[in-house]
Amino acid sequence: MKLLVTGGAGFIGSNFIRFMLETYSDVWIVNLDKLTYAGNLDNLRDLETHPHYTFVRGDICDRATVEKLMSAGPDAVVNLAAETHVDRSIEDARSFIETNVLGTHCLLEAARANKVTRFIQVSTDEVYGSLSETGFFTEETPLRPNSPYAASKASADLLVKAYVHTFAFPGIITRCSNNFGPYQFPEKFLPLMINNARQGKTLPIYGDGLYIRDWLFARDHCRALDCVLRQGRAGEVYNIGGNNEWRNIDIAKRILRLLRQPESLLTFVKDRPGHDRRYAIDASKSFRELGWKPETRFEEGLGVTIRWYLENDAWLDKVTSGEYRNYYERMYSNR
Ligand code: NAD
Ligand code: DAU
Repeated sequence: MKLLVTGGAGFIGSNFIRFMLETYSDVWIVNLDKLTYAGNLDNLRDLETHPHYTFVRGDICDRATVEKLMSAGPDAVVNLAAETHVDRSIEDARSFIETNVLGTHCLLEAARANKVTRFIQVSTDEVYGSLSETGFFTEETPLRPNSPYAASKASADLLVKAYVHTFAFPGIITRCSNNFGPYQFPEKFLPLMINNARQGKTLPIYGDGLYIRDWLFARDHCRALDCVLRQGRAGEVYNIGGNNEWRNIDIAKRILRLLRQPESLLTFVKDRPGHDRRYAIDASKSFRELGWKPETRFEEGLGVTIRWYLENDAWLDKVTSGEYRNYYERMYSNR
């Protein structure tokens, strides 16, 4: 199987490429990535010379690059390229609209013109909006995105759906809950908490800390994407989730305990504007139709993740220098 993966130098993309190349000997991957602040070739350093792997630096908004790669005839496209951080989208949404909406459109057009037979749009549970204390998002839940990031992802989903409907395009949308694991950029909650805790720095908890997310180990998400590639039905949406709800404050406390740091490091800071209270995924359709289910218990995944960050402190030090320092200062100094 020849795959065009976009955004493969990011967190989930690099986990996905590693998973596919480790699992199959008959998979060839071209990774198209712009290498934004979130893209990092170190994430795939060990696979750089793998005979089934090719890296192309480029933008999914660049028609010529995308056209060239699509005309090589991939069996499937997996679109993971995106601007992904909600707080950054609140600061400035332009790049989110460019990459997540216009970039997806560029990919769809080239895929359609080149008669690509499978296109996986990797989306998010955030397109559904927020839940109160009860209930779950199903694939039928109406789209009610709240942040500029979520709105850009929902827009891309609607474009894919429109292509399915209008052109009988073989698009499939996956909507996953919060991922965690190795190689996640430490602007995101879990690695940010680990990074700060390892340095004895305060852990910034937004609002009352009682916000809930449904956490899934990234490798389990990658297994789900593989199932969608092989068994997913064109035109369908598949929810992917961990059935694993946690309050932010409880995760932060657990990380402090595992790193033998005091709870006095917890610092309640100004909330994220429009902060979604709770996400929880009903993934029963994926269980039923794809035969997939999460395999990694949260405690086990968290242990693996913390160990990975401690053992890869050089990776952390590198990604938290430069742009990250300015970002952190901007985002947290006046909170
Ligand atoms: P990430 O921010 O770690 O990586 C994004 C990658 O996309 C980077 O390598 C970046 O360089 C690349 N990229 C950005 N703009 C690009 C462009 N214009 N052209 C080419 N490459 C570009 O993101 P992630 O957390 O790995 O998320 C991957 C996908 O999964 C996204 O679509 C995201 O919406 C979705 N998702 C993420 C989560 C999560 O918890 N992280 C959960 C559900 C869905
Ligand atoms: O649900 C899937 C989504 O999960 C993905 O689509 C997004 O790309 C991904 O970034 C993630 O979005 P969240 O907004 O849920 O993730 P984030 O890591 O930014 O925040 C998780 C929770 O932790 C959220 O309730 C906000 C809170 N938080 C976050 C940070 C960065 C804090 O309390 N303190 C922080 O410093």
